[in-house]
Amino acid sequence: MPGTCVIGLQWGDEAKGKIVDRLTREHDFVVRYQGGANAGHTVVVGDQVYKLSLLPSGILTPGVTCVIASGVVMNPARVIEELDELAKRGAGHADNLRLSDRAHVIFPWHFAEDRALDKNTSDGENIGTTGRGIGPCYRDKVGRSHAIRLGDMYRATFRSQVEHIVEAKNRVLAVQYQAGEFTPLDASAIFREYSAYAERLRPYVCDTTELLLSAVESGKRLLFEGAQGALLDVDHGTYPFVTSSNSSGVGIAAGAGVPPRCIDRCIGVVKAYSTRVGGGPFPTEQDNETGQYLRDRGNEYGTVTRRPRRCGWLDIVALRYTSRLSGVDTLAVMLLDVLSGLDEIKICTAYEIDGKQTTRFPSHVDDLRRAKPVYESVPGWREEITGCRKHDDLPNPARAYLARVSKLLGRPIGLVSVGPERDQTIVVN
Ligand code: GDP
Ligand code: IMO
Ligand code: MG
Repeated sequence: MPGTCVIGLQWGDEAKGKIVDRLTREHDFVVRYQGGANAGHTVVVGDQVYKLSLLPSGILTPGVTCVIASGVVMNPARVIEELDELAKRGAGHADNLRLSDRAHVIFPWHFAEDRALDKNTSDGENIGTTGRGIGPCYRDKVGRSHAIRLGDMYRATFRSQVEHIVEAKNRVLAVQYQAGEFTPLDASAIFREYSAYAERLRPYVCDTTELLLSAVESGKRLLFEGAQGALLDVDHGTYPFVTSSNSSGVGIAAGAGVPPRCIDRCIGVVKAYSTRVGGGPFPTEQDNETGQYLRDRGNEYGTVTRRPRRCGWLDIVALRYTSRLSGVDTLAVMLLDVLSGLDEIKICTAYEIDGKQTTRFPSHVDDLRRAKPVYESVPGWREEITGCRKHDDLPNPARAYLARVSKLLGRPIGLVSVGPERDQTIVVN
């Protein structure tokens, strides 16, 4: 069965967009199957930089069907913005877009709830969400009584659904917000706004589950584009400092609506160091000059929110866990160029928790908070490597670093990235 998936193995922003863009040419379909506009995937084509939040990164390549499947939470305004932006730039292949009529829709109440609830984890630390309404929309999806799917927006009952939900949400939001901070939502205005979005998106909406099942049955090649990263997976990540979907490899079948066995290759995307944006424990974080060095060289500011990303050393304990969880076959190591200029590079190979060493990734966030990284040090390199195109072009210490990471993870590295552009890529045999 010909399916490939691209999964981020850290806390997101591993440069999945670049890998998906690269692999698109070998596929007939590119599928986003979870998350929503919390994602920000960058694709660089020549001197043009595209930031995609909802449109699959395959949209820039002709002849490929790009699917936003049922597991995505859809912000229709954002889809339209992205389509308009591509049209303005004379890029993209909008005709190839398909939107699932089963995808749940993000409404203004979800943004309001996201803002109100982010401050409320039980241990006092903020999740630091992207504010895109993702968690509240997934919660309503599972709750069922206050949810609207894309297909509902074309039915006569859409107006009454909006009215019913707005009435309930206004009551809840008035309690969540302090008096004066909240203007009640206007059901008629929302209905009009979203009806206009529905009309604009009508040509793209279909039953994508049926579309993908037929594609699988007729031997088409499918590429599944993960959003976020496996450590942000709602079930298997650093809960509650996670996103609200299954962002590790385990989420593909459910989110896309295909049988698990049609995914036969998993590419794990790893930044050559670690980053995290938002709250939650991060054992190898370098809240110091090294972290700032990585942030400056890697331009580590959120694609969606522009927040500075927290930076630190590579964490093998976490990566071994997420590679196993997602069933990674080969690794793509990204942003290796950022590490140039460091005298030494540290790799976290174990944690010490309450005086005991372990290589097991803790299931509870409190244990992860107490984890002290055990490092091994390898020599760095001074040279800039953004011009390297072959594995042999890389300085010896860079090759040694890659070899060590591959050995520690027990998986081959198939690709190394030394810059954002398409050709700044080394294929490793
Ligand atoms: P994604 O969400 O996983 O697709 O990643 P983002 O797009 O949020 O962040 C990755 C950033 O790194 C983008 O700005 C890319 O253009 C950039 N990038 C990708 N590969 C490389 C690389 O090898 N080196 C450097 N310096 N930047 C890269
Ligand atoms: P891509 O696809 C990095 C993080 C947020 C926050 C947590 C929950 O570009 O890799 P949410 O808005 O999803 O409820 O926020 O998850 N987060 C991401 N971090 N990259 C992303 O996507 C992210 N999507 C969500 O910062 O900590
Ligand atoms: Mg991103």
